[in-house]
Amino acid sequence: MTALEKINAPPTRLGGTALYDWDYLVQDDRAHRLIYTDPAIFEAEMTNIFGGTWTYLAHESEIPNDNDFITRRLGLRPLIIVRDSNGKIRALYNRCTHRGTTLCRWDKGNTKSFQCPYHGWNFLNTGKLRGVPWPEGYAEDMRDPKYNVAQVPRVESYRGFIFATLNMDALPFIEHLGPIAKIIDEWLDRNPGGKVVVCEANRFRYKGNWKLAYDNSCDGYHVAYSHRSLLETENRFAGENAKGMAYYRNSPDTQPMYMRYTGHGNHFKDKRPNLEKRPGGLWALESAHPGMEHYEAEFIARYGDRAFALLDLAGSEPVNINVFPNFSLLGNHIQVFEPVGVEETNAIWYGTMIVDDGSVPADAVTDINALRMRTQEGFPNFGEVDDIANFEQIQRGLMAPEDEWVYMNRGFGIPDRAKTHDDGSITAPATDEAFMREHFKEWKRLMKARPNLAIQREP
Ligand code: FES
Ligand SMILES: [Fe+2]
Repeated sequence: MTALEKINAPPTRLGGTALYDWDYLVQDDRAHRLIYTDPAIFEAEMTNIFGGTWTYLAHESEIPNDNDFITRRLGLRPLIIVRDSNGKIRALYNRCTHRGTTLCRWDKGNTKSFQCPYHGWNFLNTGKLRGVPWPEGYAEDMRDPKYNVAQVPRVESYRGFIFATLNMDALPFIEHLGPIAKIIDEWLDRNPGGKVVVCEANRFRYKGNWKLAYDNSCDGYHVAYSHRSLLETENRFAGENAKGMAYYRNSPDTQPMYMRYTGHGNHFKDKRPNLEKRPGGLWALESAHPGMEHYEAEFIARYGDRAFALLDLAGSEPVNINVFPNFSLLGNHIQVFEPVGVEETNAIWYGTMIVDDGSVPADAVTDINALRMRTQEGFPNFGEVDDIANFEQIQRGLMAPEDEWVYMNRGFGIPDRAKTHDDGSITAPATDEAFMREHFKEWKRLMKARPNLAIQREP
């Protein structure tokens, strides 16, 4: 690749936000409403956060073959995530270098080149300009690299999850993940071949700031109240067998589950300690789904002793893993938060399937994936709607300018409630807002920084 094109922002580029006192806006135990409502702060986030740190883009299984592509965004930047003709994964700006139009208007596909719909400039899937119609009309050498499509200079995968940053000074991706990489490993390793494949998604859009979703991602305090109808429905016929969210009834902090902050804005909520460690323990947590009893009887008939271990592969993993700013693993889903505007966000829930690696009977793979669709449609349809209603109502509440603060002080100032480990990670009870206080320290660090951003083009 050619030399990096530095786009380090001069102070004026940040406009009014240079005047903000970040330490005032985000304090130890509270945050100012402006960080959720101010368009200038949102604009700065689109550079300092989405661009300034590692951000999730896509999963490798969405572009399994050479020349496959999918369109996504990095903050507000439209991108084409492509596996080029040599198998290299790139994040191209979905923007023609001629007059700036959206180069690729498809959501996904397979192509060796992209032809701009406006005047027909044609680009290889490496981003290099291949030709323009009637080149004799240009005095200039059109092989100048400045005409090659811009791309994100740092794109890395961790076990299939593709992240990217424009920040040349960001830590190597694996260091950025730190201790949460092990939890991602555990999430993957229970599946055959240690893999999942992304299938389709439940797509939501809400009228609220993107941070409201991340602030909720590890929140164990709201469940008993916000999701009460789902919790009661799930447990209505459960008898002794409490279903997943029953752990939040009464006093959730007396349960063995906990939250842990692992650094760089990343955290997870671990409900696995609540689980009975036996084949079928995970399956037993699933609430009623159409067809469940039939599949269970069928699996017992077909696979005997192995039936419940196989059914566990359809169960939702009881851990929420969150990588700041836009990525969560939740049950068997990959959840992605996409900012649209200061008061508008996409929350997308990608379903995942298991693969046939020979370790599971082939007909069971198909049936487990059919069941996974059912177990996965539960929370997005009946739980996420509760969360989204909260996000929209918070945004509405924050329109009151005089009442300035939101509090994130649950657990704050109580000695010995949270525990700091040797690796710097912090464990706290499931209902504590320690995760939020910690990810806001990372948010503030990034907002104060002058990130060393760059784009790249093919030579
Ligand atoms: S804008 Fe793409 S060819 Fe003109
Ligand atoms: Fe929730």
